[in-house]
Amino acid sequence: MVELSNFTSFFVANWKLNGSFQFISQYLESLNKEKFTKKCVVLCPPSPYLNYVKDLSKHSFIGAQDCSCFEEGAYTGEISTKILSDIGIKFCIVGHSERRKYFKESNEAVKDKTLKLIENRIIPIICIGETLEEKNSNRTNEILNKQINESVPESANEHNSIIAYEPVWAIGTGKTPTLNEIEDSHKFIRKINKKFLNFKILYGGSVNIKNSKQISDIKNVDGALIGGASLKIEEFIKIIINSS
Ligand code: PGA
Repeated sequence: MVELSNFTSFFVANWKLNGSFQFISQYLESLNKEKFTKKCVVLCPPSPYLNYVKDLSKHSFIGAQDCSCFEEGAYTGEISTKILSDIGIKFCIVGHSERRKYFKESNEAVKDKTLKLIENRIIPIICIGETLEEKNSNRTNEILNKQINESVPESANEHNSIIAYEPVWAIGTGKTPTLNEIEDSHKFIRKINKKFLNFKILYGGSVNIKNSKQISDIKNVDGALIGGASLKIEEFIKIIINSS
């Protein structure tokens, strides 16, 4: 399992449903020239490319974008944590709002997946966040509390899991919470239970070269989960270099 305490910050590239062999070779040609010793870089390509990215990448870790709740058996189309571990995957995003929304993923399913990941020594990056409607009705903390309590298993701790706070309304929209709102939500998450006090908590949602430094400078923010901007390799590299 990756020793999270070796790193001061984390930059997770969530490629979502994007990529090709050509894209990957150009991307890694640029990224391989950089070495960020204290900054942990995780690339999450679509699963058919996991091995290819892993073989080509020199200094980054590779993460999956999702995994199955099932260990093995008659589950067509699924990819188990056991298989991810077998091919050397070190991180896996779970509970991303796109999976919660389009694939009806429940907190219970996220908890199951997280458990299996931990058992297989893969670090889950557990995503939580409120919708715009929930934010506008002042329910952000209530939603974060519920998602944390229902999707983070007992066995999760600061060494084997990461949390990503991603307001649903900020993903892919170019909108972000204010710096104070991000700080407040991260502080709130740490206080839900004392075991979260030293968790690595990433912010995600419209992070780009213009806002990444300010966001990463926030005291309770340990890095970023980046979608759109992570597809542009020059921007992604600049985000990592400029961030604290
Ligand atoms: P975005 O996506 O950076 O494009 O907003 C973030 C995410 O979905 O993880």
